[in-house]
Amino acid sequence: MIARTSTIFVSMILLMPGDATSLSAKAIELRPKDPVYVQLGKKVYQNQCASCHGVNLEGQEGWRDRKVDGMRLAPPHDKSGHTWHHPDELLYKLTKYGFKAMIGEDYKVSMPVYDSIIEDQKIIAVLSYIKSTWPADIKKIHDKINSDYKLNRAMEEKIGDRD
Ligand code: HEC
Repeated sequence: MIARTSTIFVSMILLMPGDATSLSAKAIELRPKDPVYVQLGKKVYQNQCASCHGVNLEGQEGWRDRKVDGMRLAPPHDKSGHTWHHPDELLYKLTKYGFKAMIGEDYKVSMPVYDSIIEDQKIIAVLSYIKSTWPADIKKIHDKINSDYKLNRAMEEKIGDRD
């Protein structure tokens, strides 16, 4: 009975109309075709990310094999990097909560945790901008990564419900 009530409660949260504060409870979706998000994201990118990830999303020289103070260098966000290998939700969480939260406290990383630096909508915007710069074939692969990821999540939730 308790489990049933909490399921209903969670469903209600998911159905609530979205605003910035309830964003984390909803499915995360980038908006690379939305010019408002892309324009905003471009500004956020230049202010917050370009110093490490490069003005043209090219990353830091030697990012593949060099480390500085035991930390990796910033990878590119263009086609040559691996940002596009990850679904929207993971990119969002990495940016918002940081690598330590996702991987472990002893992970050494230079990238700031953006949760308290920029609003959730700006995180969506900056990642939407990044995606908007990818060539059509990469965007298509990334869309497929997202739909596979969502399908997996949905199946896992269904299996979880049967217990
Ligand atoms: C101080 C430097 C720095 C800044 C500023 C910075 N990053 Fe990073 N970022 C890094 C480093 C270094 C990594 C790789 C960390 C690792 O793999 O250990 C990284 C990795 C990432 C990844 C994962 C990429 C992948 O291929 O797995 C994403 C996504 C990302 N950054 C987004 C952003 C966004 C968005 C901003 C701006 C809002 C930003 N970063 C600002 C240094 C930075």
